[in-house]
Amino acid sequence: MTSLVLTLTETLRYRGAIGQWAWVLHRISGIGVVLFVTLHIIDTSWAVFYPDLYVKAIAVYQTPLFTIGEFILVACVVYHAINGVRIGILDNNPRWWRYQQRAAWIVLAITAVILVPVFILMFGHVVNFYNDPERQILPLAFVIESQLPFAVGIVLAFVAGILVSGIHGVIAPASAQPAGGRPHGSRLERFWWSYMRLSGLLIVPLVFGHLAMMHVIQGVFDITARDYVTVGTTLVNQSGTAVEFVANRWNLLIGGVAVWRLYDFALLALVVIHGFNGLRYVLTDYTAQNALLRRGMMYTCVLGAVVLLVVGSLALIGTIDQTAIEMAQEAMAKLHP
Ligand code: HEM
Ligand code: HEM
Repeated sequence: MTSLVLTLTETLRYRGAIGQWAWVLHRISGIGVVLFVTLHIIDTSWAVFYPDLYVKAIAVYQTPLFTIGEFILVACVVYHAINGVRIGILDNNPRWWRYQQRAAWIVLAITAVILVPVFILMFGHVVNFYNDPERQILPLAFVIESQLPFAVGIVLAFVAGILVSGIHGVIAPASAQPAGGRPHGSRLERFWWSYMRLSGLLIVPLVFGHLAMMHVIQGVFDITARDYVTVGTTLVNQSGTAVEFVANRWNLLIGGVAVWRLYDFALLALVVIHGFNGLRYVLTDYTAQNALLRRGMMYTCVLGAVVLLVVGSLALIGTIDQTAIEMAQEAMAKLHP
């Protein structure tokens, strides 16, 4: 953490060239999206396992704090994606390296060109939602309290990672362990280097499509709009519950194929492995001097990725039936009496 603050303060002091800023922004946007995705995959699984909790989670998304976060999230995803494509293109074309500075400016320009119309459309959904005088919005204290279990879970993941690292240190002889720092050039690291670039390219259409459906074509607020056609389907959300919204999407079959489940599975696998490997780069960079912590960070990332892949996949093969929708209706009635 101190090192992350140091990265920022040194960048400010150094008033680095645009390349330094591009690196910092790429890092911060990546970590921000990893954090969001962690909460998002867990709470999406509640649509299957705990319909009442899913109702609360989406009601929390529909509050001013999360609305501000939604704009920041979209900006992070768009910047990180465009900058990631720049990294991939330049890494494979050393003859273009002298255009690094210009390329970093072009990334900022493309990001702005995408974000301006997207933000205008998103803002339209926001105004419609908050202008409704009948609307009941959850209080800030409730919103913050609802995030506490996630904060505890994240701390526990770090503690578990360090504990496993300690056990590893006792079992494996110190001489057999690599010295601090990311072992560049190993076959495994070369695999991850290619994976980050290839998965990044595949994620672009998937995540842009997902965000277009959830923020532009419809808004986060339309997830609970009654008698509204669920985006990407021809089914109407009759109960106006977030659970029926997900059921409509996940139960849609085209030629016998559950297309949105398949789409979400591709998104889940690519994003989780890319995001947590990226998080490993960041965390091991800042703990390179301490073998226990450095290995602990690696274990935390592996643990986080495995938990999210398992929880997300179990949700994707689960069923959302009428009982779940009725439970969601009851939970909605309790939340907004
Ligand atoms: C949308 C398409 C995306 C593209 C094109 C992309 C591309 C990249 C590239 C090229 C890197 C550099 C890898 C390296 O240094 O070897 C990277 C790093 C990273 N990415 Fe992505 N990425 C995308 C989406 C995401 C998503 C959705 C997340 C979060 C879940 C994420 C989190 C990260 C993190 C944390 C890093 C490490 C940053 C660092 O080392 O400073 N990325 N990404
Ligand atoms: C506030 C912004 C977002 C909203 C409102 C939202 C909404 C949803 C909803 C309603 C679902 C349920 C399934 C479906 O309808 O397809 C879902 C699933 C999913 N979303 Fe998002 N999404 C957002 C942002 C993102 C971002 C930025 C990512 C990735 C970088 C992402 C990745 C996923 C994944 C992987 C799933 C499947 C989860 C599972 O397997 O259980 N979402 N999202």
